[in-house]
Amino acid sequence: MDVLRIDNLFARRSIRAFTAEPVDPSQVEVLLQAAMAAPSAGNRKPWHFVVVTDARMREALVQVHPHAKMAAESPVAIVPCGEPSLSFPGHPDYWIQDLAAATENVLLAATGLGLASVWCGVHPVPERVEAVRRVLGIPGNVTPFALIAIGHAAEHKEPRTQYDALRVHRERW
Ligand SMILES: Cc1cc2nc3c(=O)[nH]c(=O)nc-3n(C[C@H](O)[C@H](O)[C@H](O)COP(=O)(O)O)c2cc1C
Repeated sequence: MDVLRIDNLFARRSIRAFTAEPVDPSQVEVLLQAAMAAPSAGNRKPWHFVVVTDARMREALVQVHPHAKMAAESPVAIVPCGEPSLSFPGHPDYWIQDLAAATENVLLAATGLGLASVWCGVHPVPERVEAVRRVLGIPGNVTPFALIAIGHAAEHKEPRTQYDALRVHRERW
């Protein structure tokens, strides 16, 4: 594992084609450890993670998400979920940023492990949230945030930075 090299950050790309090779459960464990190492407001960690490997469950997810067809092929899907009531007191929406940080950590850790992944958005699209909640039996006080398809790449994408100097404002806007 080599997640700390800056190259890994640029190498992370959305991969949407996967081989049938399974993901080692110990690697899934590392991904979950990476997720929960993310920063969160007040360190409240308002997250849960549903790990889906069963092909029928992944197929059910694919049926309710218009842009996640690749999860039928990827051997693993992780659905990071937020529990807003656990969020930083007085700022209930911080859970969204906490979950985004955790989700990105999963993607970067996957890259570091030599795995491929793609982040498929769920929150804040109400029909996706409800459908994913129904498929996975997620309680009403918990919101599915994203669906991450994970596996071994069957396509290659080049690393890149997307650096844009026009979006950098120094000292003030
Ligand atoms: C909030 C969010 C939602 C996304 N939803 C989807 C999605 O539903 N399906 C998909 O194939 N990719 C999805 N993506 C991946 C983006 O399309 C991808 O990150 C972007 O095109 C840049 O490509 P890269 O990840 O290879 O750098 C999503 C990314 C983010 C951050």
